[in-house]
Amino acid sequence: MPDVKVSVIYYSATGSVYAMAQQAVEAAEKAGAEVRLRKVAELAPQEAIQSNEGWSKHALETQDVPEATADDIVWADAVIFGTPTRYGNVAAQLKQFLDTLGPQWAQGQLANKVYTGFVSVGTGHGGHETTLLSLYNSIHHFGGIIVSPGYTDPLKFSDGNPYGASHTSANGANPPGETDLAAVAYSVKRATEIAAQLKRGAA
Ligand SMILES: Cc1cc2nc3c(=O)[nH]c(=O)nc-3n(C[C@H](O)[C@H](O)[C@H](O)COP(=O)(O)O)c2cc1C
Repeated sequence: MPDVKVSVIYYSATGSVYAMAQQAVEAAEKAGAEVRLRKVAELAPQEAIQSNEGWSKHALETQDVPEATADDIVWADAVIFGTPTRYGNVAAQLKQFLDTLGPQWAQGQLANKVYTGFVSVGTGHGGHETTLLSLYNSIHHFGGIIVSPGYTDPLKFSDGNPYGASHTSANGANPPGETDLAAVAYSVKRATEIAAQLKRGAA
């Protein structure tokens, strides 16, 4: 495995996506990568965060996770994005981060990297696929290489999402379980290995 660099960049309000992000870090490290874990900046007003116990608790628990910068993408060979769904779409906080990347996009610094995504969703049909596909719209504009898991491993027939890894939280009642975390680990392993193959090929 060459010297592969992976950035795991996520937004999480109440912790489900964060649990998946931690699994992503573990999987990338296990695949031999140097890994950065980064949260994107919060946009919601303090009064909104304080009005929700789970949200304020999670913000406090993750206060030491560094905030993502453009360099975390430029540096990486593979970028793993995690988001909760928001009306079937990417959370505004992660989208805002993507929207700050214009200068790097203009210089082609987001292109030719491997990208994949994972998502947490409140309900069974609440936006697993649509959120990932919305995320991937931006990656197409980057000129990124989207590495989706497809059904390339038998475990994908358990979680059932070929577009990435996803989790149904029942609005926080159901933390990511074995099947969800195995899907994250598999997606990240696959993205890391393909990034390594590309790097090796380029060298
Ligand atoms: C404004 C808002 C919109 C949401 N939209 C959806 C939705 O369209 N479908 C759904 O199933 N869950 C929806 N949810 C629920 C979250 O996506 C879900 O609880 C997720 O697991 C939260 O992840 P987190 O714990 O990492 O923040 C929404 C939540 C909020 C606050």
